Amino acid sequence: MDVSRRFFELPFEERAKYMSTDMRAAVRYGTSFNQNIDGIFCWRDFLKLNCHPLLDLLPYWPSTPIDLREKIVSYAKHMETLFFMLMKAIIESLGLADEDILNEFEDGSQLMVINCYPWCPEPDLTLGIPPHSDYGFLTLLLQDSIQGLQIMSKGEWVTIEPLHGSLVINVGDHLEIFSNGRYKSVLHRVLVNPTNSRISIASLHSLPFENIVRPSPQLINEENPRRFKDTDFAAFLEYISSIEHKSKSFLESRKLT
Ligand code: OGA
Ligand code: NI
Repeated sequence: MDVSRRFFELPFEERAKYMSTDMRAAVRYGTSFNQNIDGIFCWRDFLKLNCHPLLDLLPYWPSTPIDLREKIVSYAKHMETLFFMLMKAIIESLGLADEDILNEFEDGSQLMVINCYPWCPEPDLTLGIPPHSDYGFLTLLLQDSIQGLQIMSKGEWVTIEPLHGSLVINVGDHLEIFSNGRYKSVLHRVLVNPTNSRISIASLHSLPFENIVRPSPQLINEENPRRFKDTDFAAFLEYISSIEHKSKSFLESRKLT
């Protein structure tokens, strides 16, 4: 949290070195989901750090603040360990016998998204991030003490109160697809605050980018037909750069009808 805050306090020219529109880049600094396509700009700065394979990507991460790499690498490793523990429990909860999927995660993708939402004089006129669900199986999210995150629950937006020392675990689209709909990915958004800036750190985990995510064959039978198409990172990139994403969520676009 501390080193993230110091990164966003760097002069703009320093931060701007890491701007990129390449969704596969090792590092991306910017505002909004996709500067090329989104008409509206969100009230958010972000730094996205691709964490896998770490040794290849680390040299591209910001070199200032001087301790950024060391701190974020350590945090990312802890998140990876926790992700494994959670996925083991989730596989068990689904009654799945084979652990092939756990082996696939050994070489899986991990993306660290550090968000900074500056305080905003007119918070009602904008959003930190518009409603979306996360790509990936799980997102492990650390938020500071400022409110902002809301999830959609029973048709209403519910604020997730920051609880010191806790993480928010969000189910992502890939887990909904893999579990053939048993786990539901959560729709969420971020409001901005009139007086305080807010920082959050999201760790997004999934299979390797080139792997296919599909409903587990063990969860498909006559009563529970297959609900989703096979998907991979290329399908996601295609969706992001298409006009489809204006009207449909990614998950909707993967549904079999
Ligand atoms: C995200 C996200 C929530 C937050 O980065 O995808 O939903 O609280 N962040 O910043
Ligand atoms: Ni999100």
